[in-house]
Amino acid sequence: MTSLKGNIVILGSGLIGRSWAMVFASAGYKVKIYDIVQQQVTSSLGDIRKQMAELEQSGMLRGSLNAEKQISLITGCTDLLAAVDGAAFIQECVPESLELKQKIFGQLDVLASEDVIFSSSTSCLSPVKLFTGLKHVKKCIVSHPVNPPYYVPLVELVPHPDTDPTTVDATYALMKEIGQSPVKLLKAIDGFVLNRLQYAVVCEAWRLVKNGVMSPTDVDLVMSEGLGMRYAFLGPLETTHLNAEGFKSYFERYGESIKRISSTVDPVPEFSGEVLEKIDQALSEKVPVDPESLNARRDWRNACLCRLAKLKKEMN
Ligand SMILES: NC(=O)c1ccc[n+]([C@@H]2O[C@H](COP(=O)([O-])OP(=O)(O)OC[C@H]3O[C@@H](n4cnc5c(N)ncnc54)[C@H](O)[C@@H]3O)[C@@H](O)[C@H]2O)c1
Repeated sequence: MTSLKGNIVILGSGLIGRSWAMVFASAGYKVKIYDIVQQQVTSSLGDIRKQMAELEQSGMLRGSLNAEKQISLITGCTDLLAAVDGAAFIQECVPESLELKQKIFGQLDVLASEDVIFSSSTSCLSPVKLFTGLKHVKKCIVSHPVNPPYYVPLVELVPHPDTDPTTVDATYALMKEIGQSPVKLLKAIDGFVLNRLQYAVVCEAWRLVKNGVMSPTDVDLVMSEGLGMRYAFLGPLETTHLNAEGFKSYFERYGESIKRISSTVDPVPEFSGEVLEKIDQALSEKVPVDPESLNARRDWRNACLCRLAKLKKEMN
């Protein structure tokens, strides 16, 4: 039994739309995938079928329904009116263009019934820009997933200032129900939270290579063999709490060093030139930039994430 009464609609059947569709179906929701391109709808349904069959075979399928049943919950269409008929929750996954998303939400504002929640997958567009002026604004929210949402459960929920608290609560409850891990932003900020943390790490990794401190390969190892081992289970704040006799004790011991080291951080890099070439060369030697090699490495990453998710479940 699903708690929301009605269908889930996925707008846009690309990378993120497909993964969202699988997540919702794994929890037993009927899902309609809408796209303007029929070929995209057809290929997304075929890809989902293939992915689910493989996941079932390897014992990694999410949810309690078998793959066939989950696949039967997902349909596709290219008619927006038909797509929103019977909808309870619409997850927008069209390309990252403010004009395009505004246009789509404008159309939905006219077509969808007033109790439907409009949720955007945007990576960094502000809810104010996306939703201001819609008569549906109380029912609008950003639910920013991490790629791919089927394997990485975090979802950042970012309301518009006029979003009704019941919309935030209902979206939060829905995300928990489908097995995702929602977090709420108390106010909107450029980049939300995940990307702000990620960009701080990417910038410092770049600077360490630029300043000749370490090779690109070793910088990646510092994360995958070091910090990342803990961060899959504990956040940066709890990590400090456990690395001393509590949070306050950590900063009594290390606060001055952290201030000293952090004050030596260089400005934001330009992300071009010699360093770009150097990092690109190191990464391309490891994973050549052709679809076959990239996809093989993505499949390996997804398999690792699946096992990690299993381990996290056991440990919790
Ligand atoms: N890819 C990521 O890593 C990632 C992570 C988190 C969030 N997001 C966000 O998710 C959203 C989708 O990204 P993606 O990577 O899946 O893009 P994508 O390019 O893979 O897919 C977009 C899909 O939208 C369809 N589309 C285009 N115009 C449309 C319209 N008017 N109506 C319906 N469908 C339309 C396209 O045909 C395509 O199938 C973006 O806002 C992106 O920022 C992406």
